[in-house]
Amino acid sequence: PYTTLFRSDIINSNYYKEDNLERYLNYDKDNIVLNVNMYLDYEFYNHDINIDKVDNLVIVNKYYKLDSNYIPELVNIDSKYAINNYQMLTSDAKDAFEEMCADARDDNIYIYSGSSYRSYTYQDNLYKVRVYTEGIDYADSTAARAGYSEHQTGLALDIVNKNMEYLSEDDIEYKWLINNSYKYGFILRYPEDKEDITGYSYEPWHFRYISVEIASYLKNNNITYDEYIGMNL
Ligand code: DAL
Ligand code: ZN
Repeated sequence: PYTTLFRSDIINSNYYKEDNLERYLNYDKDNIVLNVNMYLDYEFYNHDINIDKVDNLVIVNKYYKLDSNYIPELVNIDSKYAINNYQMLTSDAKDAFEEMCADARDDNIYIYSGSSYRSYTYQDNLYKVRVYTEGIDYADSTAARAGYSEHQTGLALDIVNKNMEYLSEDDIEYKWLINNSYKYGFILRYPEDKEDITGYSYEPWHFRYISVEIASYLKNNNITYDEYIGMNL
């Protein structure tokens, strides 16, 4: 069958992991090795991997799940760069975000944190309200279920423009971020055309702090963090 024909291709793939061989052979689609490494042979939310260590490089998606009790150490974002007094990130992410906001202002670009750290309970409520108001399919393509949101790490935030609206791809603020955010360690986490991989529709406002090195790598290679993790298991 299809899969055995390509057994040698699988084994010779750059990203081949011996532990995954059986799953590779049972996965009857394109990009077998990388997709299986990303767990895409399982339905979203049908194969939990409990995250036991959280640092700046943590991957959180529809497979990698945070503990409901996990709360990072948080600091407030300077009110100059926030829509209210409840905007918080981890210390590294906050420093990088404020530096990025300050440099953006030198270019006459005004950006603010509109939603940053969200607790497990807050995310749970947000998701459930969305299911109730919009239905489960729309909810799942736009909001993470509790435990599966990057917002719970304090490393991600939704950015608003000078009119306090979430960024859209036509905004000058968005264009500035696409050209510059990697220099501060931030990536656009849910790009257009990567929906099948991330499990979310395009979110021009959601940025994730990750490190200058990896943010630069992802941008240069046009890959999501999910793909990077699948390539570097
Ligand atoms: N909107 C993103 C996916 C979240 O809810 O974490
Ligand atoms: Zn977000």
